[in-house]
Amino acid sequence: MSTHARFITLEGMDGAGKSTHLAWLENHLRQRGLEVLVTREPGGTLLGEKLRELLLNEPMHPETEALMMFAARREHLHQVIWPALAKGTWVISDRFTDASFAYQGGGRGLDEERLRQLERWVQGDFQPDLTLLFDVPVEVSRARLANNATLDRFEQEKNDFFSRVRDAYLRRARAFPERIRVVDSSLPLEDIQGELATLLALWLER
Ligand code: TYD
Repeated sequence: MSTHARFITLEGMDGAGKSTHLAWLENHLRQRGLEVLVTREPGGTLLGEKLRELLLNEPMHPETEALMMFAARREHLHQVIWPALAKGTWVISDRFTDASFAYQGGGRGLDEERLRQLERWVQGDFQPDLTLLFDVPVEVSRARLANNATLDRFEQEKNDFFSRVRDAYLRRARAFPERIRVVDSSLPLEDIQGELATLLALWLER
């Protein structure tokens, strides 16, 4: 197995079960003796968490939203992700730039080229080594969210917003098949974990 520290991101719609899979993945990598750091976007730094609070709760123009997502990301890369990878720590991030293409691009309808410019500015050529996209039909994601006591600004969006988010994620998975692996998140948990274990075993040996 090659030993350089890798950057893994988890993506999917709200209610796709990411948090459960994240805990499983963290544990799985630690059991292999790897040093692992778990972080999230928007957030991951002191400033990023303040921006997250605003992003999830304050009404704002869609372009302001995109700029703030990338501003938080710039801070996150400089303060957390790049230093960790440099010292050999593996990094798992609960969401990263694919979420901006899915939510701000697909969901809000922002021009993709604009997002690509921000991506280049903020991260250059840097990309995750692996992205796990937890995919569920919109109805499943909505049904799971119905159990939440409070819903943030994104979770309050309508079904057509989530359909556009899902389509945008799946389009990206087709565009970057080497990096983005789609996991059917409507399957029973044991099946998903079995699939993840197989997928990771193959990927880690590369
Ligand atoms: P999420 O991690 O799903 O929060 P939680 O599970 O605690 O509800 O992410 C918060 C929201 O931020 C989610 O609805 C997607 C959105 N988001 C974007 O719109 N663009 C982005 O670039 C990122 C990173 C997240």
